[in-house]
Amino acid sequence: MAYIVDLRSDTVTKPTEAMKHAMVNSALGDDVYGEDPTVNALESKIAHMLGKQAALFVPSGTMANLIAIMVHCNKRGSEVLVGDRSHIFSYEQGGASHLGGVLLTILQNKPDGTFDLEEVEKRVRDGSDVHIPTTTLVAIENTHNCCGGKVLPLKWLDDIAALCKKHSIALHMDGARLFNAAAYSGEKPSRIVRDCDSVSVCFSKGLSAPVGSAVVGSYHFIDQARRIRKMLGGGMRQAGVVAAAAIVALDEVLPMLALDHKRAQILAKVIEGLFLKSFKVEPCQQHTNLVLVSLPPHSALSANLVLQRLRQVCLAETQGDCKTPNDEGVIVKAIEFNSKTIRFTLHREITDEALWLAIMKITYVFKELDAKYQEK
Ligand SMILES: Cc1ncc(COP(=O)(O)O)c(C=O)c1O
Repeated sequence: MAYIVDLRSDTVTKPTEAMKHAMVNSALGDDVYGEDPTVNALESKIAHMLGKQAALFVPSGTMANLIAIMVHCNKRGSEVLVGDRSHIFSYEQGGASHLGGVLLTILQNKPDGTFDLEEVEKRVRDGSDVHIPTTTLVAIENTHNCCGGKVLPLKWLDDIAALCKKHSIALHMDGARLFNAAAYSGEKPSRIVRDCDSVSVCFSKGLSAPVGSAVVGSYHFIDQARRIRKMLGGGMRQAGVVAAAAIVALDEVLPMLALDHKRAQILAKVIEGLFLKSFKVEPCQQHTNLVLVSLPPHSALSANLVLQRLRQVCLAETQGDCKTPNDEGVIVKAIEFNSKTIRFTLHREITDEALWLAIMKITYVFKELDAKYQEK
């Protein structure tokens, strides 16, 4: 069997042995009654880490963001300002509008994941005119997935928070990969989210827990969040089974995240060093564990075609050009961000050996396709 290197997402990570042990051995109770000691311990721990009063354990990052929006925008006719490349706008099925009755108004994300503050200022609507909605919330994303795992600059975070305060608008951070931002910047997570009214974090991405996210904020915010979680069907009973793994993830895997960033940097540098016209990366823009590779806009080469080829093993590869420990070749899995962008994600299960096998395969395939499709 070919050796598979799965670089599609950090969500593919499976629980560690320590997580499995904790899942079997943790104390449990009914969390809808607030009686699961393990969930309570996780909620206290994450709230403390982020310097907030309270937290709520929820099944997914999507639900965490939706709950935050529904709490902040609890008056009908509310509007959220959000980046056009944000997960909330692009990948959550418009749940905020669908289920929350909230208008999502988009601002153009810059390549670094921020958006223009003057534009925010211009877009804020105070609801004084009967024709218009009321801007109630600004939602930001850190790290920024579609911008290639970019870490939002601290200065920009301070500025957007000040702007929100000036207009009495709440600030929510989709921090699905907040701990990657902290590992890159060296800042404490609590400093990064200091001025946010709410934050969502995921335990099931680079942190490798099997499931779960948290939404974090003030006592008052979490009281309302708890009601909405129940309404959405996210009230879980003996949820300590999974919360136990999230606690281990924070202790065991969080300190290792920088290693994923280092390996992402190596991959980006190797691809850059190939000097191929068809495949571009920007290692100097590489912050965390996501590596974006762009294809030329006018070439017939598409992301889908590259991904298909990375999943095939040809005879020449197994006969020595791309040799593996078992001589059966390497399959690399990645995802298509759009027809001209591929995303590779580094995570705990990508060891140095897996990385080098992936690099060997990617180099082989990129050179082959570049020779075939290069724009003359
Ligand atoms: C930035 C960001 N926010 C939110 C989510 C949603 O998380 P979940 O898949 O747990 O719903 C993701 C998932 O990849 C994400 O990348």
